[in-house]
This record gives sequence, structure tokens and C-alpha cells, in this order.
Amino acid sequence: FNVDTLTGKTVVITAGPTREAIDPVRYLSNHSSGKMGYALAEAAAEAGARTILISGPCQLAPPERVEHIKVISADDMLAACLGYAAGSDLFIGAAAVADFRPANIAEQKLKKSDADTMTLTLVKNPDIIASVAALDAAPFTVAFAAESERVLEYARDKLVRKKVDCVIANDISAAGIGFNSDDNAVTLIDRRGETRFDQRSKPQLARELIALLAERL
Ligand code: PMT
Repeated sequence: FNVDTLTGKTVVITAGPTREAIDPVRYLSNHSSGKMGYALAEAAAEAGARTILISGPCQLAPPERVEHIKVISADDMLAACLGYAAGSDLFIGAAAVADFRPANIAEQKLKKSDADTMTLTLVKNPDIIASVAALDAAPFTVAFAAESERVLEYARDKLVRKKVDCVIANDISAAGIGFNSDDNAVTLIDRRGETRFDQRSKPQLARELIALLAERL
């Protein structure tokens, strides 16, 4: 199923974590494996879309027939996303982008001092999905919202604040779903209402989400 529902469309999907360098050997990151974003890219390609997968560092092989763009930091991901999103039809932000990065990247490996604490100053990263949604010819833009409490309330807030067309609320407090799991459970929220998808494999969920989003275009 899903064959040809996106033929002639261009879909851009972000996946995986970003890495924010502290010095040449250290970074800030998170536990995103890329599984959700890669599964969405596979499902979009299966549905006939030209599919561009913009991925932070992860261990997965890219699906067939998908253009695979590798990035490291949120800044890199933003540049790639703005380049590919303009003129595309659907943009899905499944990446877990670091909200902050170190204010300075040390050129040399930081040395341990005698002090028992050290302070790292962080600055805010650009909001990639809000920048995509604000483009003149913005694609239909879908954010994920990874929440550990008040999941639907915070996700609805992201729909408004980021000015996206749709938010996929992802409860990351439950075991066996969310970051780095093989399964996921989400609620798709848009201005028409809410659709719940109980726990299932990420590839299965991806095919169902792509089928539903294809109808929205
Ligand atoms: O990769 P897996 O191991 O398979 O795990 C999947 C997942 C749990 C990472 C994925 O399903 C998910 O929920 N991704 C979003 C994770 C996240 O960082 O959510 P957030 O609530 O912080 O961000 C909200 C949205 O804004 C996301 O679409 C995110 O890509 C985007 N964002 C966030 C910060 C930022 N600076 N720029 C962004 O575009």
C-alpha cells in the first residue's frame, strides 16, 4: 500500500541527533538513533516521492532511492534544510536537534584544571523547523514533539509557536517507545483534530503516517 500516493512530490525528512562540539574530541548530543526518520524516508520513497533524508550522525544505512545528506551540528542541518525545503512539498522534522550549543568551540582539547567544577556557556541554536515553516514557498511542515509530561498540551503549544501545519506528539516517558526503540506510539495533531497511533513498529507507523500526510497535501 502507499504506492504512488506521493509520485511527483518532493519530501524532505530530518533524522537522528545533532552533535554540538565542545572541543576537537567532545560534544553534546542525545540518544536519537535515527530509526523514526529513516523509516519515514523509506515509506516516502516507497510512496513514490523524491525523498531527501538529512541526517545527523547515526549508525543506520540509508534506505534505497533516498538522497542521503549527512550533517553534524544544528547549524549544518539548518543550512541543508533551507536549501532542500524551498520548493519541496512536505517537510518532516524527526531529528532531535540540540536546543543549545557551546558558545565557543575550543581549538585544542580542554585540559583538566584543579577546580572541582567547570562551567560551559551555551547559546541557543536556530529553530530549524520554524525557519522552514516561515519560508515564502513553505512545504507542508510537520514537527515531532518529544515530551516526557503533559504530552498533548505541550505538542499543541508547539503547533502554534512554531507555526507548523502538523505536530506528531511523541511520549518519551514510556519504556519501549521513543528514543532509540524499535517501536513508537504517537498522536498526530493538526487544525482538523487528533489521530492516535498506539504502539507499533517504527516502519509500520511510518507507512501509516506517510499515508495520512499524503492525503493532506
Ligand atoms: O531517532 P529515534 O531513536 O528513532 O527516536 C525518534 C525521536 C523520539 C527522536 C523522534 O520521534 C522525535 O520525537 N523527534 C523530535 C525530537 C525532539 O527533539 O523534539 P523537540 O520537541 O525538542 O523538537 C520539536 C520539533 O522541532 C522537532 O520536529 C525538531 O526536529 C524541531 N527542532 C527542535 C529544535 C531546533 N533547534 N530545531 C528544530 O527544528
